[in-house]
Amino acid sequence: MSSTLASATSKRRILVTSALPYANGSIHLGHLLEHIQTDIWTRFQRMRGHECYSVCADDAHGTPVMLKAQELGITPEQMVAQTRAEHHQDLLDFHVDYNNYYVTHSEENKELCELVYNRLNDAGYISKKTISQLYDPEKEMFLPDRFVKGDCPSCGAENQNGDNCDVCSATYSPTEVKNPRSVVSGATPILKDSEHFFFDLPKFEGMLKEWIRSGAIKNEMANKLEEWFEQGLQQWDISRDAPYFGFEIPGAPNKFFYVWVDAPVGYMASFKNFCNANDIDDTPFWAQDTDTELYHFIGKDITYFHCLFWPAMLEGAGFRKPTGVNIHGFVTVNGAKMSKSTGTFIKARTYLEHLNPEYLRYYFASKLNDSVTDIDLNFEDFVQKVNSDLVGKVVNIASRCAGFITKRFDGKLSDSIENPELLKEFQDASEGIAQDIEARHYHKAIRDIMALADKANQYIDTQAPWVTVKDEDKQALTHDVCSLGIHMFRVLVIYLTPVMPKLSAQAQAFLNDEFTWESAQEVLTGKPINKFKALLQRVEMDKVNAIIADSKESLAPKADVSNTKKASKANNEQGGEDSNVSPLERDPIGETISFDDFAKVDLRVARIAKAEHVEKADKLLRLELDLGGETKQVFAGIKSAYQPQDLEGKLTVMVANLAPRKMRFGMSEGMVLAAGPGGSDLFILEPHEGAQPGMKVK
Ligand code: 2FM
Ligand code: ZN
Repeated sequence: MSSTLASATSKRRILVTSALPYANGSIHLGHLLEHIQTDIWTRFQRMRGHECYSVCADDAHGTPVMLKAQELGITPEQMVAQTRAEHHQDLLDFHVDYNNYYVTHSEENKELCELVYNRLNDAGYISKKTISQLYDPEKEMFLPDRFVKGDCPSCGAENQNGDNCDVCSATYSPTEVKNPRSVVSGATPILKDSEHFFFDLPKFEGMLKEWIRSGAIKNEMANKLEEWFEQGLQQWDISRDAPYFGFEIPGAPNKFFYVWVDAPVGYMASFKNFCNANDIDDTPFWAQDTDTELYHFIGKDITYFHCLFWPAMLEGAGFRKPTGVNIHGFVTVNGAKMSKSTGTFIKARTYLEHLNPEYLRYYFASKLNDSVTDIDLNFEDFVQKVNSDLVGKVVNIASRCAGFITKRFDGKLSDSIENPELLKEFQDASEGIAQDIEARHYHKAIRDIMALADKANQYIDTQAPWVTVKDEDKQALTHDVCSLGIHMFRVLVIYLTPVMPKLSAQAQAFLNDEFTWESAQEVLTGKPINKFKALLQRVEMDKVNAIIADSKESLAPKADVSNTKKASKANNEQGGEDSNVSPLERDPIGETISFDDFAKVDLRVARIAKAEHVEKADKLLRLELDLGGETKQVFAGIKSAYQPQDLEGKLTVMVANLAPRKMRFGMSEGMVLAAGPGGSDLFILEPHEGAQPGMKVK
C-alpha cells in the first residue's frame, strides 16, 4: 500500500471493500473482525476529510446457495434477499457503515460481468476445453469437490473429502477418490465430459510478479505468492454447468460464470449501484490511469483470488488494479479455532443480544495490526480490557470531572487551561495515532490513547478536585482542573471515534460539539456542556457466559448440506464451493465386522510424550506415543483441534498394531482414536488417570 499520509489539504479519493459474505449462513465473529477493521479505516479516512467510500454485498451465487435454498423450499432469490437483509442489519448494529450493502445477484453485476468477460474474450484470454468431472446422476448435476466423499486414494482412510485426506494429508483430484459418493444424493458419481471456459492466468505472470512487489500487499504475503508462481500458474476454470445459481455466460447457454468470477466484480457493481443513486461518477475509480485509491480488506484464505485472479481480470479487461489488498488472519477464541460444540462459534446476533457492539470493536482494535497473524479473542482479557480501559480509564475521566462542572460551575467549562503542556501532549499525539490507523496498526493507536488516558487520570488524582472543591479559595482551580479533565477526555474520544462511533456520538452530544480529526487541536474553553450521563457499563463475565451458552450447538446429526464446513478456513464457516466442507457431521453406523476382526485390533493406552507441528502439513501433528516401554511415532490429523503443547502428557488410545505406513513426513506407526465431525470439533479419546501407558483397551 502506498501509505503516504496525505495532509488534510490534499483530499484523497478512496474506495474500500470488505470480502462479500456468502448468502447461506450468518455473520459471525470471523466476519466481524474484517468488517470492523474496514469500518475503522474508512471512518478514519472520512474524519480526516477524504472522500472515502466503502461498499460490500452478499455473495449470492454458487452451488451451496442453490442447494441450501432447495433444502429450505424457497427460490435462491428469496433466500438471498432474506440473508442479505439479515447480514446488513447485523452489520449496522455493529455500527459498520457501508455506503452500500448490495448483492451480487443484481443487474449491475450481470452487466459488469459480461463487460469484463467480453473484454477478456476479445483480448484472447479465454479458451475452451472439454474436461471430465464427477457428476451426480440422480441429482443431474456436476459435483464441486466438496460435494464428493470417499476413501483416500493414498492411505485408504474412509469418508474423506473430495480433494484431501484428513488422515494422511494427501491432496488429490475428486476423480481419484475410491468408492466416491455424492453428498447431495448419496449416489455414486459418474464421470461426465463437459466443455469449460478457461481464463489465461499464466499470461499475467509478469504483471502479477511486479504488482505484488508494488507495495499493494505486504512482503510476507508477496513471499507466499512467490511460492505459487514457483508451482506455476494454471489456466483458471471460470465456467460451471447448469443447474447453477449464477449468471449465464454470454453466447453460452447453460454455462454459468463460476461464483468467484462474479463475486469480485460485485465490488464494482455495489459501487456502481451506489454511484448511480447518488450522482457520482464511478469511472475514475476503475480507470487505469487514476489517482483514486482502491483497497480490498480480506482474510488470508482468499488471498489467491484477490492477489492473482482479480488483478489479472482487472488488467485484462482494461481496468485499474487495487492500490492495496489488506489481508488479516483468522479469529481464534480463547486460543482455539471457533467451535460450535464449545460455544465459541459466535454469531453477530447472539453477541448483540447480550453485549454492547462497541466493546468488540474496541477489543479487536486493541489487537489488530497489518499482519496475517490470527487474532485471539480471549474472554477474560476482553472483560478486563473493556472494564479497565474504557470504563476505568476513558469514561472515568469525564465522570470524575463533569459533575462538578454542572453542579458548581453552571455547566460551563472554564476560560483558562490549567496545564497547557499537558493538553498539548494530548493534541500532539494526533499525527502519530493517525499514522498508526492509516497503516492499520490499530493496536499501537489504542496503546497510545490508553497511555494518555492514564496520564489524564493521574493528573486528576494529583489535583484531587473532590478535595479542592471544598476549599472556598480553590474554586477557580477546581473549575480549571475539571475543565482540563473534560478537554483531555474530548481529545481521547476524538481519537477513538473511528473505533467507537456511538460513544463518540454520545460524547459529542454531551459537549455540544462535532468531531473531526482536526478538531482535536481546538479547545472548548468557556463553552457550556450538558449533564453527564454514564456512557458505558462494565461488562460482567456472566454476559460472556450467556453468549457462549447461546452459541453452543448440540452435535445432533444435521442434514444441512451447505452450512457446515471443516475448520480449515475456520472463519468462513458457510464456505463456497471450493472450500472443504464436511456436510455430514455425524456418520451412521457402518457395516458390521466379525468379532474376530475386532479382536485383531490392538488398542492400547498411550501417553503423548511429545507433540509437535509438522512443517508444511496443514492438518497433521507428529506425536511420540509412550506405550510403557515402547515409543511409537504417529502422524495424526488433529492439528485443527489441538495445540501440541496441550497434548503433551495426556493419555490417549491408539491402534498399536496398525502396519506402519510411510507418509510424506516420515513413518506413521499407528493411529490415535478421535471422535467428532472434524475441524476444531475433534476430540482424542482420553482414558481416566489410573490407566497406564501400554495397557490393553478391552
Ligand atoms: O470467502 C468468502 O466468504 C467469499 N464469499 C468472499 C468473496 S469476496 C469477493 F471476491 F467478492
Ligand atoms: Zn489418506
